[in-house]
Amino acid sequence: MDALQAIVIGFWVFIPALVPNSAAVLFGGGLPVDLGRFWRGKRVLGEGKTWRGLIGGVSFGASIGLLQLLLAYNYDRWGFDVFGPFPESMLLVFALALGALLGDLCGAFIKRRLGMERGAKAAGLDQYDFVLGSLLLALLISPGWFGTIFLQGDGIISLLTILVIVPVLHRTVNIIGHRLGLKKEPW
Ligand code: CTP
Ligand code: MG
Repeated sequence: MDALQAIVIGFWVFIPALVPNSAAVLFGGGLPVDLGRFWRGKRVLGEGKTWRGLIGGVSFGASIGLLQLLLAYNYDRWGFDVFGPFPESMLLVFALALGALLGDLCGAFIKRRLGMERGAKAAGLDQYDFVLGSLLLALLISPGWFGTIFLQGDGIISLLTILVIVPVLHRTVNIIGHRLGLKKEPW
């Protein structure tokens, strides 16, 4: 595996984790995940984290992941068959999607504890909470797969690719969402 291939694979395996954030903006609204509860004078998570966003975002991200599995299965000569054997691969794409939005919830929890209002900018946290959540859950669900993809050979390049593209993509998508009137803040 050469470096270019490692970059493409890093991007490819992380798509199920990238999709849920944007999908949550589209699906979001209604009942907040924290049910409006407060902890130490601040909302536990806030109005920006809703059940519809969570469930819609995870479902959409996992669905895209399933499509990727289908594509990889039919075009395996392209080397996109990197989620491991079926059916564990299904669990893995689900874990990537779920982990992303669980990480996002943790990020919101931290922001509220720091006294930041919903939508306040938290450099670093906003971009990487879902990356950490997603990678951690994937590691828990399938440590063997995680090691093969990210730690062996050029795998570290795949991991670095994710860390580099995420802030760029995050920012770009949020600016587009803001311009389209879907998102309140451009971050
Ligand atoms: N969203 C949602 N449910 C989620 C995650 C996101 O409904 N679990 C929707 C909300 O409408 C939210 C928008 O997606 O406002 C953008 O998400 P994000 O930027 O993560 O939330 P913020 O509004 O910035 O809130 P916070 O300060 O808590 O991050
Ligand atoms: Mg935000």
